[in-house]
Amino acid sequence: MNKISPQSLLAKKANGEKFAVLTAYDATFARAVDQAGIDVILVGDSLGNVLQGHTSTLPVTVDDMCYHTACVNRGTETALIVSDLPFGSYNTIDDTLRNATALMQSGAHMVKLEGGQWLAESISLLTERGIPVCGHLGLTPQSVNTLGGFKVQGRDEVSARRMITDAKTLEDAGASLLVIECVPTELGERISEALSIPVIGIGAGPKTDAQVLVLHDLLGISRRLPKFVKNFLTEAADIPDALTRYREAVERGEFPGPEHSFS
Ligand code: KIV
Repeated sequence: MNKISPQSLLAKKANGEKFAVLTAYDATFARAVDQAGIDVILVGDSLGNVLQGHTSTLPVTVDDMCYHTACVNRGTETALIVSDLPFGSYNTIDDTLRNATALMQSGAHMVKLEGGQWLAESISLLTERGIPVCGHLGLTPQSVNTLGGFKVQGRDEVSARRMITDAKTLEDAGASLLVIECVPTELGERISEALSIPVIGIGAGPKTDAQVLVLHDLLGISRRLPKFVKNFLTEAADIPDALTRYREAVERGEFPGPEHSFS
């Protein structure tokens, strides 16, 4: 299999081919996800919840992310590895460049950061320096305290338009991918149509170019399972079969269904 690159994902969008993204945090699960043919592995700061037992992603450090990124890299042959810059690690340009460099040197192929227009300059500088970027809009868990909880975002027209503007700004700044989390299906579709880069939804309905889930949610072993999650293990023979079923359901446009989406 050829290695997945930002360019091959862009080509998938241009050809109307959907793709699957899944989190992993260690070499064994990364190998299973990679062998299931999943195109992108996200070393998410959700590891703060699912591995470390915190109630938010805020306590996760750059060292934590580098450690898990290196583990995932050792288990991955084909997938593109995207690693989260954790809370507080990209507040200044200097911090952003230093911490993104640390993630890349640990084995990431792209870094992800949460936020809108204020990140445009950072994204331009990162991409100019050879660090591809994935944006993240909608419910951005690092901002849970300013958002007032884990709530669906972009439900009214004003905030929906602001998110579309943010998405275009991130693309223009050089982002290669965009995650949108917990938005109504219609907004997920509008953002995907407005951008040339692939838009990866989580709780953003079936019309986005790709889907992402947290591995432990997909396996049904997380502390709480949000509405947008499907447990793929219940109908599968084993974990590799569950991962393959997830990929196939995303590629065929069968996941998420209306029961996993917001209006
Ligand atoms: O940290 C993470 O796993 C994420 C996904 C929920 C998109 O950012």
